[in-house]
Amino acid sequence: MAFRWTNDLTRDDVTPEPVWLNRRHILAGMAGLGLGAIAGPGLAQGDLEPNGWDEITSFNNFYEFGTGKGDPAENAHLMTTSPWSITIDGLVDRPGDYGFEQIMEQMSVEERIYRFRCVEAWSMVIPWNGFELADLLALAGVQDGATHVAFETLLRPSEMPGVSRPVIEWPYVEGLRLDEAMHPLTIMATGIYDKPIPNQNGAPIRLVVPWKYGYKSIKSIVRITLTDSEPPTAWNKYAPNEYGFYSNVNPDRPHPRWSQASEKRVGAGLLARRQPTLMFNGYEDEVAAMYDGMDLIKFH
Ligand code: MTE
Repeated sequence: MAFRWTNDLTRDDVTPEPVWLNRRHILAGMAGLGLGAIAGPGLAQGDLEPNGWDEITSFNNFYEFGTGKGDPAENAHLMTTSPWSITIDGLVDRPGDYGFEQIMEQMSVEERIYRFRCVEAWSMVIPWNGFELADLLALAGVQDGATHVAFETLLRPSEMPGVSRPVIEWPYVEGLRLDEAMHPLTIMATGIYDKPIPNQNGAPIRLVVPWKYGYKSIKSIVRITLTDSEPPTAWNKYAPNEYGFYSNVNPDRPHPRWSQASEKRVGAGLLARRQPTLMFNGYEDEVAAMYDGMDLIKFH
């Protein structure tokens, strides 16, 4: 029988709302500030009110299924997600194909409510279910020489109508520096609202890096490679002056064709004001130290 991780419990079955709001792991990156801290300076609690299921699953980008925001929801059902495995290779002690089922048996899945900021200046808040990428990398055993992690999406033209056109170079690829990959905020997501992740959002397993623009969060991952150099990334190859390797959310570094200083919450309504974009998407306290001394305009 095909295995998909499922969980019939809702948050309310597990703990009453005020309690789960205070749990360290779902504090959207408040780890380290201690229990009871609801939000850091830039991240008010209201900013963590999740978007609805329909908003999250019907308006997004997954170019393998077309470039329109509604195309993934319309076409992604064509993708077969079981069986699924991730090849983990490169500078690891235990390279090989790790089955999705095998991975899920060994990981403890938790909920994390993360702000999500798209490069096109809209944002959402998404309650992901997932586990830390660091835990998956530990299964494979990262070797000393590794400095970066490369990711690759499934490329299956028979199930992906969008890849017949060379919009970007297929397969979709992404990369992180090793310290970014090992950061506790970096997760592999397998669910949304305690349901298996829908195909259009990157089933059965995708990356989520909440302090970076949305395009870093590569979907439907089939390969993870530990390397000793900076890996190529899909959008950097497409337009290097527009999309850098780091892609940290930065209101001070405009996209060459538009400002990134403000954003609009999806679902906030036509009359809602744009809100100021926060450095590192509001996760500055947790991640800024990784970039100490770096020119974040040059290394955008
Ligand atoms: N991953 C793949 N494989 N293909 C894509 O086209 N689009 C990216 C990212 N990951 C994309 C991808 C972009 S541009 C964004 S904004 C997010 O996925 C949006 O998806 P989400 O809303 O489900 O997070």
